[in-house]
Amino acid sequence: MANIILLGPPGAGKGTQAKRLEQTRGMVQLSTGDMLKEAIAKGTELGKRVEGIMARGELVTDEIVIGLIEAKLHEGARGGFIFDGFPRTLRQADALGELLQRMGQKLDAVIEMQVDDAALVARVTGRFTCGNCGAVYHDVTRPTKVAGTCDVCGSTNLKRRADDNEETLKTRLMEYYKKTSPLIGYYYAKGLLSAVDGLADVGQVADAIDRVLDKT
Ligand code: AP5
Repeated sequence: MANIILLGPPGAGKGTQAKRLEQTRGMVQLSTGDMLKEAIAKGTELGKRVEGIMARGELVTDEIVIGLIEAKLHEGARGGFIFDGFPRTLRQADALGELLQRMGQKLDAVIEMQVDDAALVARVTGRFTCGNCGAVYHDVTRPTKVAGTCDVCGSTNLKRRADDNEETLKTRLMEYYKKTSPLIGYYYAKGLLSAVDGLADVGQVADAIDRVLDKT
């Protein structure tokens, strides 16, 4: 069992690899982005509060996402948790450390997915996902086998994200460099950081992550 963070800018491939780890290692993906998008889709109070912020590509408040993670941590995960898109600020990182400690758990590895900014535009603008099972695709690099149908669950409910456009990506990247990239040094200092080449193809990235996990 291992608790890990996948750290990287928008479009780095965090969600793609987290879903694979759920299938291969029985780990549980905790994506604050997915939780917030679900709240928007359901039209909850939380969804209404965060919809505009996310559409602009800005970060929602630390309190909101720390609360979401705390609730999920209590559900437990036999194979360990994959934190995807959380933490995104130093405050969130401190809070995660405290929450895990209180539960008698720890973080085992932080995997930085290194990608070139120029590649992210193509990644993000070509992305679509299955609205039923969450499988992640790309127009060019990972199309569905049958056009318009999810390979995993057969659903035809394939969707694109409102924030997946070049203009919003600039804000999301700026937020990443200003608020999230300091976590690289933070986790390096804690001896938890490993880097993988996120520009390699999906299978090679998966192998690199497996090598890190096998050492934990
Ligand atoms: P969130 O949903 O977390 O989005 P993100 O961090 O911007 O990350 P993405 O989902 O865009 O990218 P990814 O790395 O998962 O890439 P993917 O695997 O899909 O957050 C959305 C918003 O919610 C934020 O802007 C913020 O407002 C809010 N939020 C969320 N968490 C928050 C927090 N903790 N604090 C505050 N606010 C928060 O891959 C991308 C594409 O590339 C896909 O099409 C995929 O098929 C393709 N691809 C993947 N890997 C490869 C590869 N190796 N080679 C070629 N193509 C690949």
